[in-house]
Amino acid sequence: MAHANSLALRSQDLTKTYASTDPPTRVLDGIDLTVREGEFLVVMGASGSGKSTLLYSISGMDRPSSGSVFLDGRDLTTLNDAEMSRTRLTRMGFVFQQAYLLANLSIRDNILLPALKAAPDARDEAVARVQALMERFEIAHVADHGITQVSGGQLQRASICRALACEPAILFADEPTGALNSSMSAEVMDALTGVHRDGTTIVMVTHDPACAARGDRVVYLRDGRIVAENTPGPWTRENADRREDDLLAWLRNQGF
Ligand SMILES: Nc1ncnc2c1ncn2[C@@H]1O[C@H](COP(=O)(O)OP(=O)(O)OP(=O)(O)O)[C@@H](O)[C@H]1O
Ligand SMILES: [Mg+2]
Repeated sequence: MAHANSLALRSQDLTKTYASTDPPTRVLDGIDLTVREGEFLVVMGASGSGKSTLLYSISGMDRPSSGSVFLDGRDLTTLNDAEMSRTRLTRMGFVFQQAYLLANLSIRDNILLPALKAAPDARDEAVARVQALMERFEIAHVADHGITQVSGGQLQRASICRALACEPAILFADEPTGALNSSMSAEVMDALTGVHRDGTTIVMVTHDPACAARGDRVVYLRDGRIVAENTPGPWTRENADRREDDLLAWLRNQGF
């Protein structure tokens, strides 16, 4: 982790209020979050505590009600929609609970799509990069399959490849294993651990302590505020079980 001390992303006094309800719902209540370059940050908290809203607000998928989010020295909340789309496409990768791949395209073409959109003139480079990613995450043998012809774990690894195809500065994942059984979940977490080891900054929301135990740092959200933080440091296969136990005890203390 060469850049462990430089900043990847920072939010300052972030709030999000939905005015459509009566009274208005304050879902994020003054979030100051710092993500260091190369860090694997995990966000946990009860259902409805604001985890997804936080992820969407710091990644420009949604606009916060107030506050700032700094990436590459720019406040994302000041960007217009076109600038924001460009920043999301070229600087950020996204993985969700569902893969959101297109049914009429092969696995390979799904992964290629955002890279071609980002740089239409660099097709050969994109194809080579995508091929390397598919080999790295062990789905090259299903590259020409349709999305219904692969397993859930393969599909989610394809989403990870798609998210990495534009070489993002930061990868956002919202419950990336939420729809998977435990063996596929471990498969996907191995892939994300590899992404982290390669130096990519990750912010991941999860309910699953086994997945959370992969992170360098876990923040706990309650009613839209960060109320606790746990810093277990780098995950290894050897310390995995102990970390999960420690994390579970800590989570129970938070009322999880
Ligand atoms: N468009 C909206 N209008 C009003 N309230 C909303 C809207 N979107 C989300 N909320 C509310 O904001 C709160 C936080 O939602 P959010 O999806 O961020 O929670 P979460 O921690 O991700 O939950 P889960 O673990 O169930 O995914 C919830 O109470 C939810 O009902
Ligand atoms: Mg959520």
